[in-house]
Amino acid sequence: MDKIVIDGGRRLKGQVEISGSKNSALPILAAAILTSEESVIENVPQLRDISTMIKILKDLGARAHQEGNVVTIRPGDNINHVAPYKLVSTMRASVCLLGPLLGRLKKAEVSMPGGCVIGARPIDLHLKGMEMLGAKITIEHGNVKASAKRLRGADMYLGGPFGSSVLATANIMMAATLAEGITRIESAASEPELVDLANFLNSMGAKVRGAGSHLIEIEGVKKLHGTRYKVIPDRIEAGTFMVAAALTKGDIRLKNIVPEHNNALLDKLREAGVGVETNRTSARITYRRKIKPVDVTTLPYPGFPTDLQAQMMSLMTVTQGISVITEKIYPDRFMHISELNRMGSKIHLEGNSAIVAGVKRLSGAPVMASDLRASAALVLAGLVAEGRTDVHRVYHLDRGYERIEEKLNSIGAKIWREKE
Ligand code: EPU
Repeated sequence: MDKIVIDGGRRLKGQVEISGSKNSALPILAAAILTSEESVIENVPQLRDISTMIKILKDLGARAHQEGNVVTIRPGDNINHVAPYKLVSTMRASVCLLGPLLGRLKKAEVSMPGGCVIGARPIDLHLKGMEMLGAKITIEHGNVKASAKRLRGADMYLGGPFGSSVLATANIMMAATLAEGITRIESAASEPELVDLANFLNSMGAKVRGAGSHLIEIEGVKKLHGTRYKVIPDRIEAGTFMVAAALTKGDIRLKNIVPEHNNALLDKLREAGVGVETNRTSARITYRRKIKPVDVTTLPYPGFPTDLQAQMMSLMTVTQGISVITEKIYPDRFMHISELNRMGSKIHLEGNSAIVAGVKRLSGAPVMASDLRASAALVLAGLVAEGRTDVHRVYHLDRGYERIEEKLNSIGAKIWREKE
């Protein structure tokens, strides 16, 4: 197993190219099996989650490969409806195969995702939506089995206790493209990744309207065709580098981004006194003066993303004063707190709010990554800490950040990988 080592205390300065979005690419790759024809998908990051999805597609019988950032998928006529437990169990996002399998084959079997370190992650909304489309759902031997003679468009409300669900909306959107009649999803998730998925589906001949709002309408069609499509930039990777600029008193220009996808973060950075300049596809984040503490609450898009909560917490650890970070999507997503505190931060948890009392400096320490975004927060903390930080269990980071050491080293960090 590898670990990441960081020699902290360096100011980051320069330009970084942001990769394609992992969370857009995963459902888009799954959606490609809605047709037998070939699709070519560009700007797909080279990450462990992406190669897992490609392996699953191959196991289902599709031909699929990635060359650089381009994935080619030719599903063919003989797709199998059972996603293999061995692969599916390593990646929760595999649940987004349910929709396309059900849409194309009218049956799907995918193993039921368990909880994970960011909390319980139920899939009741996915199942409810598929039932509304006419599927019969059973859970047997840990697998979700969905089947239908035919899928019929339906009106449904997909809000849950924590608001909308990104992948439940994606699953129903994908299945409904090949249902008979019109489906309306109310309280649909409005994340940019869903707009991307809708654009991809429409480029295959689907009729999806309203993506990006909370009411999505899908008019079923008989058949979809192959397509060529480019995935949007990764707003979470971009946000992580934006925080890195502020944290290291740096000056970073981010290229290949959609700045408005990061409005919630940019607004908080401005409030904290950080310099923010944006144009159509890039942004420059500059440290200007002592950063002020800001309070953050995570919410569904366009609110502050839960996937940047841990990184923002790292910034607040060295900001003079008190800030309150409240998690409203995954109330237990705070595994990074104890690790940050080992580096000298002063954070304590009150329910689903972290109270951060800023300290003068962090000191490098061996720390343990627990999930993808927590790992990113520890790398950020390591960049500003005095001395050496060893981030163990780096495989979490490899699920979601393409060439992270290379990108950080190119702007002045000192970070490398070592075998444990
Ligand atoms: N929820 C339910 N029932 C459901 C589904 C979700 O109650 O059937 C709840 C969840 O427990 C949570 C909230 O709804 O409290 C939102 O979860 P959502 O379904 O939107 O999450 P997801 O679709 O499973 C995606 C991202 C996550 C990201 C969340 C929230 C992908 C592959 N994953 O997950 O990304 O945190 O949306 O924005 O798109 C990551 O990249 O590190 C990551 C975890």
